[in-house]
Amino acid sequence: LALTGTASAATTVADVGHRGASAYAPENTLASFRLAKTRHADYFELDVQQTKDHKLVIMHDATLSRTTNIEKVYPHGSPWRVRDYTLKQIKRLDAGSWFSSKYKGERVPTLDETLNAMQGKLKLLLEIKNPSLYPGMTSRIATDLRAHPYWLGTGRLIVQSFEWSSLKTFHKLLPSVPLGVLGTPTTGQLPAVAKYARYVNPTYKDVTSGYVKSVHKRHLKIFVWIVNDRTTMRRMIGYGVNGIITNRPDTLRSVIRG
Ligand code: G3P
Ligand code: CA
Repeated sequence: LALTGTASAATTVADVGHRGASAYAPENTLASFRLAKTRHADYFELDVQQTKDHKLVIMHDATLSRTTNIEKVYPHGSPWRVRDYTLKQIKRLDAGSWFSSKYKGERVPTLDETLNAMQGKLKLLLEIKNPSLYPGMTSRIATDLRAHPYWLGTGRLIVQSFEWSSLKTFHKLLPSVPLGVLGTPTTGQLPAVAKYARYVNPTYKDVTSGYVKSVHKRHLKIFVWIVNDRTTMRRMIGYGVNGIITNRPDTLRSVIRG
């Protein structure tokens, strides 16, 4: 009965590849985004940050050391912050070898390269990462998106951030793009959130069936993160979430297909 109850919801759950298909390829690289498509995601998720020369690059951490070989290339550059390096310097880095020798030579992509490479392939969940560290980044992202009008077509893009003030700024710049607040707003905060956002995207750990109902009551959708196991995927689908962000989009696809 539980499975029957989830069947119709399951068909509408969005499968979002977190940092691409990051269980199988180096996160936030073009290889990872392309693999998310191969592994049957609907969306790929990425994190945007800004270089010293104000270029938009795809990187999760505020520093480059975990997911590139920067400590070898610039041994005296500690703490290797994204904001302290130019795009030219960052392009010298290998963003694949830390994950597997198979991905040696993979580069840190720019937002522009990613928008070009993934056009027509998957939908995009774009996270504005750490905007308070990067004055002007939110409006640069809007400008970059305007230069790629494909992504502004209905249903192709959601923009999210943990910094809700950045979303309010973005909403004024590109009001047609649906926004998602990352985190877990209280039910009392939902009416204010609904004024500019269409999605609430919390950790699955905070989510109950009642919380999903409260979000839906405000005509908001809910994408939960980061769910990598089948049991939790099934539980979230049973709660009626609209999307699941996962490092394993193929696993989620097989759960959805039953
Ligand atoms: O998409 C949700 C998720 O990406 C938020 O956490 O740390 O992976 O950016 P984080
Ligand atoms: Ca993210």
